[in-house]
Amino acid sequence: MAKNFLVLNGPNLNLLGTREPGIYGGQTLDDIYTRLRAVAQENNASCEVFQSNHEGELVERIHQARGCVDYIIINAGAYTHTSVAIRDALAAVSVPFIEVHISNVYKREAFRHHSYLSDIAEGVIVGLGVYGYEAALLYALGK
Ligand code: DQA
Repeated sequence: MAKNFLVLNGPNLNLLGTREPGIYGGQTLDDIYTRLRAVAQENNASCEVFQSNHEGELVERIHQARGCVDYIIINAGAYTHTSVAIRDALAAVSVPFIEVHISNVYKREAFRHHSYLSDIAEGVIVGLGVYGYEAALLYALGK
């Protein structure tokens, strides 16, 4: 059966392209989604996307993934460092997930070094720029 992926992005990632381009680069979220959809399509898979600046909306979207998504690729943005609720949602639905960060959070402020998600993630990709999303998708495709 064709694999179905869900790409989740948290707060402020809707501003990619103009947000601190020295850290996050010049590509927009739409650019990233276009590339991910193309890679998924080439591999007979499908890729849903969702971005929200609201923690509860991300929690709800994770709940909806139960039973119909093979893998979640998540950049929870700042919620990575604060959200027990997103961690609990991911644990509750038992969908394997890969945590992605565009920047190398370990080279940045100390408060970005802790993640509530990493120890329950299948893998974590940091600091590869927006390619991190594609790398996660290729892994989840089994490439
Ligand atoms: C980020 C890193 C987080 O610390 C930050 O709050 C973000 C983006 C990244 O992709 O590098 O919003 O997740």
